[in-house]
Amino acid sequence: MKTEQKTIKSLQALKQSSKKITMLTAYDFTFAKIIDAAGIDIILVGDSLSNVYQGNETTLPVTIEEIIYHAKAVVKGTKNAFVVVDMPFGSYQVNDELALINAIKIIKESNASAVKIEGGQEILMQVKKITTVGIPVMGHLGLTPQSIHQLGSFDTQATSAKAQEKILKDAIELEKAGCFAIVLEKIPSSIAKEISTTLSIPVIGIGAGSHCDGQVLVINDLLGLDPTFKPKFVRNYLNLHELMTKSVKEYIHDIQNIGFPSDHESY
Ligand code: KIV
Repeated sequence: MKTEQKTIKSLQALKQSSKKITMLTAYDFTFAKIIDAAGIDIILVGDSLSNVYQGNETTLPVTIEEIIYHAKAVVKGTKNAFVVVDMPFGSYQVNDELALINAIKIIKESNASAVKIEGGQEILMQVKKITTVGIPVMGHLGLTPQSIHQLGSFDTQATSAKAQEKILKDAIELEKAGCFAIVLEKIPSSIAKEISTTLSIPVIGIGAGSHCDGQVLVINDLLGLDPTFKPKFVRNYLNLHELMTKSVKEYIHDIQNIGFPSDHESY
């Protein structure tokens, strides 16, 4: 099969031809290699790294050095997908200059293709500044986990008419400021549909219904690695938690009963 490197142009072309864009998170070389070979369009080195790899309750603690460490591994495992890296909490909010310095650091050290930042009106200067040096920026609206303490919960966002007016305005402004795509997280599908049809850039949903131009999930959720985490928008395509537990138990049993290694597995 002919390999095909994904770019912001090819992602834009998918939207224009009404073909859905596929996106998943990855945090290491092996998973990135599998996901990429399966044909995903975008790989996100999400700050969900903080939750699923570091065991934190929020995305706030992950550092720029930590996300770069994981992004480097993901880029090495990726041939065709477009790799986007989340800018950690505190690495872009202060001002546009700091945002630019940190975006350059992420791209230079990880060799990824783009960064993602959360927020609307309040981060327009950062989007403008980062894109001036040629780094593509993905926006993120709706449930923005870096603002969890202000939001107070992981509830659905943009449920009132006023909030829907604001999110639509924010999305339009992000496009104007130079974002190449936007993630919409946990908002009603009706407003996600309106944003997707209004914007000319790709809109990727997570818990935002089927009308978005594409969908993203955290790979751990797709694989069913954590049975205690099951929001409505997650579909487990596998119960890897169960399969893994079963395999580890069999391994323990085999060692304890001198069933592993066999003569065939020995030198
Ligand atoms: O960090 C992350 O995994 C994300 C996705 C949920 C979009 O931002």
